[in-house]
Amino acid sequence: MAVPSKTVTNQDLAALVETNDEWITSRTGIQRRRHCAEGESISVLTAEAAQKALERAGVTPDQIGACIVATVTQENLVPSAACGLQKDLGLPEDIPCFDLNAACTGFLFALHTMECLLNASPRKFGLVVGAENLSRVINWEDRGTCILFGDGAGAAVVECREGWPSISAVMGCHGSGELLCLPGVESGGHSYISMEGTKVFKFAVEAVPWCIDQVLKKTGQTVEDVDFFVFHQANARIIDLAVRKYHIPAEKYYKNIAEYGNTSAASIPLVLGELQEQRKVGPGSRVLAVGFGGGLTWGSCLIEFA
Ligand code: UT7
Repeated sequence: MAVPSKTVTNQDLAALVETNDEWITSRTGIQRRRHCAEGESISVLTAEAAQKALERAGVTPDQIGACIVATVTQENLVPSAACGLQKDLGLPEDIPCFDLNAACTGFLFALHTMECLLNASPRKFGLVVGAENLSRVINWEDRGTCILFGDGAGAAVVECREGWPSISAVMGCHGSGELLCLPGVESGGHSYISMEGTKVFKFAVEAVPWCIDQVLKKTGQTVEDVDFFVFHQANARIIDLAVRKYHIPAEKYYKNIAEYGNTSAASIPLVLGELQEQRKVGPGSRVLAVGFGGGLTWGSCLIEFA
């Protein structure tokens, strides 16, 4: 993982909009978030995270069979962030490198896509990245959204081989720009995130159990068989509701939303990165990851740590 150097506290935001630390902490679980400072760039952080992932995996760039960057805030639309990584890291030129937009579910959509690509590739390693520069698309006059989002990048090297169990991804979409929207350049207006928070909250608390149930059904596993649950970090209350519903013990899930806020596609790999650093997961750990967000999109899968 790689996060920007600038920390923005709830108190910092209270100086900009009518809010306070107590409201933000109790409603979201967020205490701080990282925002790219002047001169800092998400593409540099993306390359840093990807480089670290390769080193940690002991995999060299020439072994990579595909590269996907999940993002809605890439520095350039063209060339893609993934093509930028191809150049920066010296990945092979005869592989697909592309960006993927599934908002906060992006990293999981990318893992599923990567599994399909690697099944058909002679190279069995893939690079999957989630990276966001959401501070660039915040409406600083909207206290309902400006307190939520942070920047960062997380990367994973994945390996897929014949005979290994599939990650058994489940996913879905419901096209709707009414609840959560980030307009593009053609809209003519500002490219700011807008969200009907309470309605998205309701969608999320229904999507998470659906995802967990479907993955468990598909893999024939139970909650007890799963070593760790990783949730998209959108709101601590959404995670707490899921944990309570499935009686997931404290040592089997993790929240870092207090430190980073909602980093959309980067949120799941930021959790995975910290879990690995803290040795909460290791070789053989089976991790059920769940994501949900704009689109609307949702998804889940069961990953096994190498
Ligand atoms: O990652 C993509 C998926 N995103 C999500 O899953 C986000 C899901 N939604 C949420 O996390 C929550 O809905 C929010 C944290 C965004 C909002 O929390 P809420 O409990 O749904 O609050 P609300 O929007 O219903 O607002 C409650 C009150 C309102 O005041 P009134 O109308 O009751 O007087 C808001 O104007 O809180 C007010 N409010 C604030 N007050 C202080 C809204 N934002 C703030 C704020 N500080 N920052």
